[in-house]
Amino acid sequence: MAEETLTITDNRTGRRYDVPIRNGAIAATDLQKITSNGSGSGLLSYDPAFLNTASCRSAITFIDGERSILRYRGYPVEELAERSSFLEVAYLLIHGELPDPTQHGQWVDAITHHTLLHENIKKLIDGFHHDAHPMGILVGTVGALSTFYPDAKDIFNEASRRLQILRLIAKMPTLAAFAARHAVGMPYAYPDNDLSYAGNFLNMMWKATELKYEPNPVLERALDILLILHADHEQNCSTNVMRAVGSAHADPFSATAAAAAALYGPLHGGANEQVLRMLKEIGSVSRVSEYVKRVRSGELRLMGFGHRVYKNYDPRAQIIKKVADDVLAVTGRSPLLDIALELERVALADDYFIKHRLYPNVDFYSGIIYSAIGFPVEMFPVLFAIGRTPGWLAQWQEGLLDPEQKIARPRQVYTGSPERHLPGIRAAKAEAGTSAS
Ligand code: CMC
Repeated sequence: MAEETLTITDNRTGRRYDVPIRNGAIAATDLQKITSNGSGSGLLSYDPAFLNTASCRSAITFIDGERSILRYRGYPVEELAERSSFLEVAYLLIHGELPDPTQHGQWVDAITHHTLLHENIKKLIDGFHHDAHPMGILVGTVGALSTFYPDAKDIFNEASRRLQILRLIAKMPTLAAFAARHAVGMPYAYPDNDLSYAGNFLNMMWKATELKYEPNPVLERALDILLILHADHEQNCSTNVMRAVGSAHADPFSATAAAAAALYGPLHGGANEQVLRMLKEIGSVSRVSEYVKRVRSGELRLMGFGHRVYKNYDPRAQIIKKVADDVLAVTGRSPLLDIALELERVALADDYFIKHRLYPNVDFYSGIIYSAIGFPVEMFPVLFAIGRTPGWLAQWQEGLLDPEQKIARPRQVYTGSPERHLPGIRAAKAEAGTSAS
């Protein structure tokens, strides 16, 4: 069998180095021994945005972007979306296996009984402007939860970690719904333990004066599927933030606030909100070609298109398209869907998109579903955050327990000025005859 090594010749010195290959990767630290004159700090690998750098070893999510494969703990996302529930998937991500019926019952029960918030959180939310973006409120309040649970700092205590994981998965929807109701001046609706995770979220969003809120089962299931599809996506931007903050041994509430802040960006979880704004700006099917021309000319990006990893299609987008049909059959057809379908048709036949391998991603159709269910656009990234929470937590815990991990601290290639001095010091050095560069 061929040796699992890479031989590097440094043409500056003529020296050869054998570097081991493990799991299809070389260790960047092995490059340190490659120096131009036998001393110094050695060769760095330069990879802004981690285009080809693995920052961890992970057993949680597998993606093959070329073949459009997404698996959680080995299970294809299509099967999970069809046959399981979001809380089952959350259990799978955190524990590595699907729960048996007893474990499932205990897990659902525990999460259901951690949905309430400390009443002071309501006062915190009340302090936000009526037009505060709910994602800003979520980032602020989930970070604030860290001050309510100082026991969360005990990150190497397994029981404590489990409790914080339950709290976070349980409380994110409550924070999210309270943020939404604050914007419209509605009284906060408390969780209903009789309902499913998704059904309860719909209840907290829309319960008015009725004694019992009854979620529409099609919309409840659609929301559950969307949460499953967002549950993890290996080392994406916000997960990388979760791991980086976790690597400093911050508590998981603070790390989740940081991850949610990353998700808020329009290139990440904020994209679904931008898709809906874009479809509204296009306004009609007849204006789609003109819009695509503007994208081709480099004036704009087509939101909801393109992905760092998927270069053929995003498997989540395909599932979502089907869910959109189910939801719109209940809520009535949306003119935005017609614009989206036309945009997809025109873009996929266009040279620019073919050449750049740009396909609809998870965010392209999810906004149409959210909007049909009745969520305001500002809530779209918040929904993404609720779905991604189990993934963040699974990745946080895996990173924390990985003996190879240390505090995340990348290197840099310095491109600034060489040493120089303030005028007075320069003159003094010149007088003393020492270097004053
Ligand atoms: N519309 C038009 N051109 C695009 C788009 C787009 N949506 N996405 C990429 N390109 C072009 C880009 O201009 C560049 O062209 P060139 O090589 O000629 O300069 C080329 O494709 C490569 O783009 P990139 O920005 O280097 O690719 P990336 O892997 O760094 O970015 C991305 C991935 C998702 C940030 C990007 O495709 C994008 O901005 N898409 C729109 C925002 C979006 O939908 N984000 C949601 C991503 S999926 C959910 C999630 O992860 O949160």
